Amino acid sequence: EAEVPSARPFEGKIVTISAGGTREPLDPVRFLGNRSSGRQGVAIAQAALDAGADVRFVAAHMDVPAPEGVILTTASTALELHEAVFEAARGADVLIMNAAVADFRPSEYADSKIKKQDDHADPIIHLVRNPDILADVVAERDANDFSTLPPLIVGFAAETGDTSGSVLEYGAAKLARKGCEMLVVNQVGQSLVFGQDTNSVTILSADGTAPVEFSGTKSEVAEVLLETIAARVDSQDK
Ligand code: CTP
Ligand code: CA
Repeated sequence: EAEVPSARPFEGKIVTISAGGTREPLDPVRFLGNRSSGRQGVAIAQAALDAGADVRFVAAHMDVPAPEGVILTTASTALELHEAVFEAARGADVLIMNAAVADFRPSEYADSKIKKQDDHADPIIHLVRNPDILADVVAERDANDFSTLPPLIVGFAAETGDTSGSVLEYGAAKLARKGCEMLVVNQVGQSLVFGQDTNSVTILSADGTAPVEFSGTKSEVAEVLLETIAARVDSQDK
């Protein structure tokens, strides 16, 4: 019997997606944050729903609402996201780490609003490293033969090339460092239509499969990513 590729290749599969950007509080009214809008993550969640997946969506701060039909949890800080991603990733078939996670957080949180000093001294904010959520999920999975953490973990990276390396070289090094199965490398600053709804991505795979290059809207990027993942999930079932 010939196999026809399904229009809903993720039927019966659980896909966990983190999206948006974390915020690290300094005091009750201030935080260190980033400009992630959550739009790419929402597009991926929608593409996963359309492909038949049960979607667990872990949202940090986003400019847009999560799509209808996902199982939604929210997290504000990197530490909260760490816990939420581990919980939502257990039992899932795929984890897609699209969230922009703050690499550092203020080492101290002021319980009340920080005031200007009378002596005009410039305040100093000390930062400490946040855990690497993606690397921690991979490490815990790989340390346990019977782990229920996803066999397929996808990271995202925005890279710029410079004199010591190309976007792809940096991407390949990051993929190896993280230990995940795929890395979606966003080529930032290369697009003439920067700031518009167009993305230039290269999907790198750890298994030696040729990189997939694609430019398009965030929805189109999401569809290509899901197709690329579907090809892997199918071959795992056989
Ligand atoms: N990531 C994560 N936890 C962090 C930082 C990053 O899970 N504390 C994930 C992101 O969600 C993304 C991937 O790791 O999927 C790559 O993020 P990126 O910031 O490009 O990587 P870093 O290892 O933080 O490297 P860099 O020093 O270039 O920022
Ligand atoms: Ca980072």
